[in-house]
Amino acid sequence: MKGIILAGGYGTRLYPTTKVINKHLIPIYNKPMVYYPLSVLMLCGIRDVLIVTNPDDMSAFEKLLGDGSHLGISVSYTSQNEPKGLAHGLLMGEEFASGDSVCLILGDNIFYGHGLPELLRGARKLVEEKGGACVFGYYVKDPERFGVVEFDRSGKAVSLEEKPSNPRSNYAVVGLYFYDSTVFERAKKISPSSRGELEITSVNQSYLDDGKLEVRILGRGYAWFDAGTYDSFLKAGEFVATIERRTGLMIACLEEIAFNNGWIDEVQLKKLADSLKNTEYGHYLYKLLGEEAVGKL
Ligand code: TTP
Repeated sequence: MKGIILAGGYGTRLYPTTKVINKHLIPIYNKPMVYYPLSVLMLCGIRDVLIVTNPDDMSAFEKLLGDGSHLGISVSYTSQNEPKGLAHGLLMGEEFASGDSVCLILGDNIFYGHGLPELLRGARKLVEEKGGACVFGYYVKDPERFGVVEFDRSGKAVSLEEKPSNPRSNYAVVGLYFYDSTVFERAKKISPSSRGELEITSVNQSYLDDGKLEVRILGRGYAWFDAGTYDSFLKAGEFVATIERRTGLMIACLEEIAFNNGWIDEVQLKKLADSLKNTEYGHYLYKLLGEEAVGKL
């Protein structure tokens, strides 16, 4: 399975900041936003990742993440000339996927919770072994802002609606989707919605119509943020800061995940720590190595 991060869009709800800076490069507390979705893919064991972004922003992402080899992964980039919707962004990854299944994640979505890697790997395994699609529903108090999934009494998904004015449930579909290789053919068949976008909900609907959509619940033990508004952006940053200060453990530290997955060794981790010497982030990497922090903060 390959990973695709959608990091394009206009980011108008964060204007004027995002008029000149891509939303996914601004920090959620102590690291760029794109680290969070990338960490989710890495926790899922995915090593081949495509970042889809606006043509003008590609070079900044490349500067930040390079080809990913320093983390033992491969990161490539492609442009979406105009943000015509999430399914349109996904289609930019067809060549990259080259017949493989994909995990699609929205660049402004942040996930946290005990057992997250197991949950993700379970969804991956399901799609890799049985095909179809797997998405997650999360209980929210403002479902009209999201794609909404309705369940029957047995817990089976029965309907999907994009930003409904009268939602049939409180379950929002989060921005993390596991798809088999038929996803691109499905995405090519959908038509733009009334707001002129190729909606990911239409892609999910196509799986639902074929009885091939598995919707799992992301329970209340998990935190999910979509950092697209100033308020949710601030809340996500406060959340990360609170957890990290309390536990001393970082959320979405890419170097740590790569090390724990066995994708980089101690020598490489030391090299990465040295490149961030005298920073709090570098300090954390030295601690992972069990070394005293080198240099002063
Ligand atoms: P949105 O939050 O729906 O759109 P946006 O980021 O452009 O923000 P705004 O509504 O404030 O203008 O997008 C969700 C995520 O998907 C976000 O991380 C950006 C990304 N995206 C793309 O990569 N391509 C697209 O065509 C769209 C619509 C979004």
